[in-house]
Amino acid sequence: MQSLVARSALKRTPAVRTFASSAARLQATPSEKPVLNKEFKIYRWNPDTPAEKPTLQSYTLDLNQCGPMVLDALIKIKNEMDPTLTFRRSCREGICGSCAMNINGQNTLACLCRIDRNPSKDSKIYPLPHMYIVKDLVPDLTLFYKQYKSIEPYLKNDNVPEGREFLQSVEDRKKLDGMYECILCACCSTSCPSYWWNQDEYLGPATLMAAYRWMADSRDAYKAQRMERLQNEMSLYRCHTIFNCARTCPKGLNPAQAIAKIKLELAAD
Ligand code: SF4
Ligand code: FES
Repeated sequence: MQSLVARSALKRTPAVRTFASSAARLQATPSEKPVLNKEFKIYRWNPDTPAEKPTLQSYTLDLNQCGPMVLDALIKIKNEMDPTLTFRRSCREGICGSCAMNINGQNTLACLCRIDRNPSKDSKIYPLPHMYIVKDLVPDLTLFYKQYKSIEPYLKNDNVPEGREFLQSVEDRKKLDGMYECILCACCSTSCPSYWWNQDEYLGPATLMAAYRWMADSRDAYKAQRMERLQNEMSLYRCHTIFNCARTCPKGLNPAQAIAKIKLELAAD
């Protein structure tokens, strides 16, 4: 009797059914999504016509025909509407730091920033603030990189161990967490009012965090000299602990904390 029930159950669920339903799923055509238009207002300035003032140019995109991130929108505009629109990007996954810009009032990475899907609110996109502009959304980062170079962002130790690499304990390695991840996007430095007004002398949060990253590295033998170089009125002490840097960092890092640690170490010296 039991085997009869089992057999009739088998008959009711034919083996082909799974295959048929998954095949149908594969062949299903996606239903047409309704149009969801959103306006993007984007900063434009062309160095070939320097007398012309910068403008905000408006573009409307159907969000249902576009990827989810602001960088997707910029790429779509450039590819399909206006090839003259200029911006930097490379990795499109928050690793290279190229696509840093000011989106709806916040410095961030366009590739990590989701488009606000509210169609009644336009999206305003500017280059990183208080920087010279090369074109459109491309800031001139020459000074930023020069400052970074000035802190000698590499291991300095004259006693290279023979036949092996520099060793470091797990605890010492941990001290670099939260700093080595910096991708030098410049979002933090360009959100800092002290950096806006004194960027010729104040190093800014990104470079100072890099300076502390090497001060904190147990393998580096030049900590004293690194500290000495910051012991002046401008390089470090223009930081007034405003915390914009920590709030804006798209990688969730805390340059303000690194700066505070440098100040503590200098005070204890
Ligand atoms: S600390 Fe954050 S915001 Fe500043 S440069 Fe590094 S990744 Fe960018
Ligand atoms: S494209 Fe590389 S961080 Fe955005």
